[in-house]
Amino acid sequence: MNDLVGKHIVLGLTGGIACYKAAELCRALIREGATVQVVMTAAAQQFITSVTMQALSNRTVYDSQWDVREPNNMPHINLSREADAILIAPCSADFMSKLLHGSADDLLSLLCLARPLDQVPLLVAPAMNREMWAHPATVRNVAQLRADGAVVFDVGSGDQACGESGDGRMLEAQELLDDVIAFFQPKILSGQHVLITAGPTYEAIDPVRGITNLSSGKMGFAIARAAREVGAEVTLVAGPVHLPTPRGVTRIDVTSARNMLELTLAHSRNADIFVATAAVADWRPSNAAEQKIKKNGSGTSPTLSFIENPDILATLASSQRARSGDFYCVGFAAESHELLANAQAKRLRKGIPLLVGNIGPATFGQDDNALLLVDESGATEMPRDSKITLARKLVVEIAARIAKRGSQHED
Ligand code: CTP
Repeated sequence: MNDLVGKHIVLGLTGGIACYKAAELCRALIREGATVQVVMTAAAQQFITSVTMQALSNRTVYDSQWDVREPNNMPHINLSREADAILIAPCSADFMSKLLHGSADDLLSLLCLARPLDQVPLLVAPAMNREMWAHPATVRNVAQLRADGAVVFDVGSGDQACGESGDGRMLEAQELLDDVIAFFQPKILSGQHVLITAGPTYEAIDPVRGITNLSSGKMGFAIARAAREVGAEVTLVAGPVHLPTPRGVTRIDVTSARNMLELTLAHSRNADIFVATAAVADWRPSNAAEQKIKKNGSGTSPTLSFIENPDILATLASSQRARSGDFYCVGFAAESHELLANAQAKRLRKGIPLLVGNIGPATFGQDDNALLLVDESGATEMPRDSKITLARKLVVEIAARIAKRGSQHED
């Protein structure tokens, strides 16, 4: 909950009904530890008052380049120099056009133009009617804004305030918050494709019953989010879990271990990194019934027999690409005791460069965890923390190991 501590954001509002979402966004940014200075155009004030935005940001709102509060009377210089980023949300079609032409006839466009280009990034969250969004003028403007160095976030799709339906809605506050947090992460895995398995598997006994385990998928989903934040393309193969898909991540839902193996294998061909966090069921019923097993009234219970499931990690780690070092495989070990010894043995058994150990009963379903990283040079502890914090640290460790391998290959 402190992902934006120390960041000062100028939040610019322009004219659009999505201004109501900017109020929630302001709160969300502050909840993550940012300080927020709101700047509004005259059009934005038709949609939401500066009183609301002042109360939420705990700072008076700026709306004029002639603001007498600034001793030097240069709010465009002062506000832009303090900022770690300027976020325009919502950004109307008209304001986008102003930005790219370098217009500067109101405080917000003026401070965007006056910002030091290499120090203060400009983040833009477009919001408009679907026809305006699809218009060639807007398409041109978005492309040019990006070419000029601005980060233009996606738009949402769905019902619009005007009654039409399509692309052009501003993203929801939580989605924008995730994008802003991701923006500040260093892009250490850019150009890499990360494949992740997460969650439990479900092995059917009959059409209405099955065997599964207590894995919540939270660690794998956190790693997917962290990898995406640092610029990777991410494919997440998920067993049955109740978690939202992290932004920008491609999710593939599976049920059984064999189902997970098939889809993970299919996606491994384009992947550079594989992180196996799934708690794959070691066995499945060997005699799954096609119809629901009924009580027969005699009081006898059915007998289940089991067959071992394929080992997804070991299968991928034994591929030619993994053995030649082009496909970096990371395993997880959920243990109940003797973590270090079990993790070291498991790393060798699975034939992988890095294994992450954790105590199963202490992590399943929890929001925090503690990890033990085991590789050829020894073990490193990551003390108990939130899963997203650990996931971000783990992604840094993986990127460092891949970079080291790359430099060894070149030598
Ligand atoms: N794993 C897998 N496929 C399986 C079993 C495990 O891909 N059929 C992966 C897990 O995702 C994890 C690692 O292998 O990354 C270790 O899983 P774990 O359940 O701890 O180990 P097992 O191989 O099942 O060994 P054991 O049951 O003996 O602890």
